[in-house]
Amino acid sequence: MIQPTGVALIGSGSASPDSIITNHHLAEMVDTDDEWIKTRTGIAQRHVAGPELGLRHLAAQAGERAIAAANLTSEDIDLIILATSSPDDLFGSAAQVQAELGASRAAAFDITAACSGFIVGLITASQFIRTGVYKNILLVGADLLSRWTDWEDRRTCILFGDGAGAVVLQASETDNLLGFDLHSDGSMNGCLTLGYEPEGQTLYGETQVSKGQYNPINMNGREVYRFAVKRVPQVIGQALAKAGLTVDDIDWLLLHQANQRIIDAAADRLKIPREKTLSNLAQYGNTSAASIPLALDEAVRAGKVKPGDTIAASGFGAGLTWGSAIFRWGHR
Ligand code: COA
Repeated sequence: MIQPTGVALIGSGSASPDSIITNHHLAEMVDTDDEWIKTRTGIAQRHVAGPELGLRHLAAQAGERAIAAANLTSEDIDLIILATSSPDDLFGSAAQVQAELGASRAAAFDITAACSGFIVGLITASQFIRTGVYKNILLVGADLLSRWTDWEDRRTCILFGDGAGAVVLQASETDNLLGFDLHSDGSMNGCLTLGYEPEGQTLYGETQVSKGQYNPINMNGREVYRFAVKRVPQVIGQALAKAGLTVDDIDWLLLHQANQRIIDAAADRLKIPREKTLSNLAQYGNTSAASIPLALDEAVRAGKVKPGDTIAASGFGAGLTWGSAIFRWGHR
């Protein structure tokens, strides 16, 4: 009989392309400068993937490292969830990652929720474990938004970078996903889009099909900023309440790495000291679904985040969507 169990996050991994674009490089491409970008966003550089590097390759690299850190092999994985908005294949890239990893027993599917993708994936994966259906799940957040960036648009090209991060979730006696909350507001969809623009192609008579193309990322920066500084502290508060915890119980605040000013504003509103915030934005920019697990993996490997630490994580972005998960790191 299937026994409901708790969830533990037991291993992390990450990967990023070697190529780097600094603010100074960007200043040669568009009308901007290092000072403007740093003071408004906290970003100094971003990693970008060339045409030889697929989303599936980077996702698999991060996944392999997470599986090794969890002391498992790819054969132990029951399910792979890939959170991405920039798959190599619009039909989904999770199965491609499964093949790259040789995780032959694993089912695999994609989740599309932009910069909230990792949080949505974490909550989704936890349901499969809590119901006792699966024991080991690999969750990867990966995005190559450089493919969809308009490199002539100074309002957006300064923000995004490529990367992948992963965690392994495992069935456990204690439940370390302590609380979560998720929201969407599609009426604000137009604030941040990577939209399909239809164009009619006549097949016969008056019957047409849509043969369009995806346009580059389009964003109303001010609206997205306002949305984030309001909604992120709110949703963390809601997830904490569901966990029966307060901000004093948090060891680390781990927000989607979109903008240092958003991270600082959220920490201030929640009255969480800045030393408790995790940030690697300066090196990577906004890597969308990858940003939370990438920052988590770096903090785990640096010995900052330790087993038993309580983390308040929040993702937010296109949709618009936002959510928070409060979890304890490791098996304890
Ligand atoms: N370099 C120099 N000037 C720039 C610029 C750049 N890269 N980008 C915009 N500007 C200019 C604008 O043209 C504008 O000039 P104007 O007043 O002459 O028209 C001025 O700077 C202010 O633009 P504005 O868009 O109001 O700037 P801002 O202070 O809101 O900062 C963002 C812009 C994008 C940094 C900020 O809005 C932001 O971080 N928003 C959230 C974006 C985000 O995180 N998105 C992802 C969520 S998942």
